[in-house]
Amino acid sequence: MSNEISKFSDPGLPEHVHRKTDTDPKAEKRAEQQVAILFVLSAFFTVLTIYSYIFIKTNTFIFLPIMGDTNAHQFFLGIGLAGSLLFIGFGAVHWAKQLMPDTEVVAMRHEMRSEDVDREDFVQTVKERAGTAGLGRRSLIKRSLGLAVGLIGLTPLVMLRDLGPLPRKQLNTTSWTKGTRLVTDPGNRPIHVNDLEVGAVAQVLPELPTGTERTLENIGTDAVLLIRLRPEDFQLDSERLSWTHEGIIAFSKICSHMGCAVALYEQQTKHLLCPCHQSTFDVTRAAKVIFGPAARPLPQLAITVDSQGYLVAQQGFTEPIGPSFWERSS
Ligand code: FES
Repeated sequence: MSNEISKFSDPGLPEHVHRKTDTDPKAEKRAEQQVAILFVLSAFFTVLTIYSYIFIKTNTFIFLPIMGDTNAHQFFLGIGLAGSLLFIGFGAVHWAKQLMPDTEVVAMRHEMRSEDVDREDFVQTVKERAGTAGLGRRSLIKRSLGLAVGLIGLTPLVMLRDLGPLPRKQLNTTSWTKGTRLVTDPGNRPIHVNDLEVGAVAQVLPELPTGTERTLENIGTDAVLLIRLRPEDFQLDSERLSWTHEGIIAFSKICSHMGCAVALYEQQTKHLLCPCHQSTFDVTRAAKVIFGPAARPLPQLAITVDSQGYLVAQQGFTEPIGPSFWERSS
């Protein structure tokens, strides 16, 4: 029995069959209009997307058969996006199938980089094909495609709105102001200077004016840690020392790395530790970072006492609390 593989002849390309649009100018015109209609439909759905995004309120509901009560904002957003992409796709496919040249060509495979002459040949072919595709000649398709593609490009731009509004001064401000009393959290009880013993630590919040409700957002930015050391333990410059009171020092509880709550205090070493990524701050040196990824010390809140001996803020924080952000100046 022979191992020889029997050869068979190359069947070649099937014979090219002309489409109706190749031979009938009316059919060609009709196909051109159909493509344009599909692109215009895509543009319509993009407009619907943008309209739904801006004008339909997120809490508007409509009743739809089978689906029942449906959020209109999300429904029309979905329909708009799906329609705009679908019809631009249909338009492109219809254009390619009916109007673009459909003769099959054979390109012989070469190893790696082609010869210069072949590369030039390729460029020439592309130019020729682009010419025969008739983009220059078919101005209706060109314009409707430009409209559809241009509007689709607008969609992500409009959605940039979700990145806003810009926080502006919001990241620089907390509820702490001059004279604000420090109160326990939980409990909202003012803290007297004698309430804290050396080595004690407490989480405090600013006392809010009567009738004001504390929001979670407030707690997230206002939380402060109060620690009492012996005054001789501090290694602070005169300004920072004047921000303490009888060994009591206050720092923002929000980690300067990524905003976790700095919740662990090691009494022996006088270190504050953030449990998220182990940034460690030295309380005696104004919460200087001594380990971990945090880039800045915890902001210190200047404190003193009022006439009744209760702890109050001398002023608000002098720098933004929490992690870095682009516009941060310190
Ligand atoms: S958030 Fe505190 S160390 Fe990362």
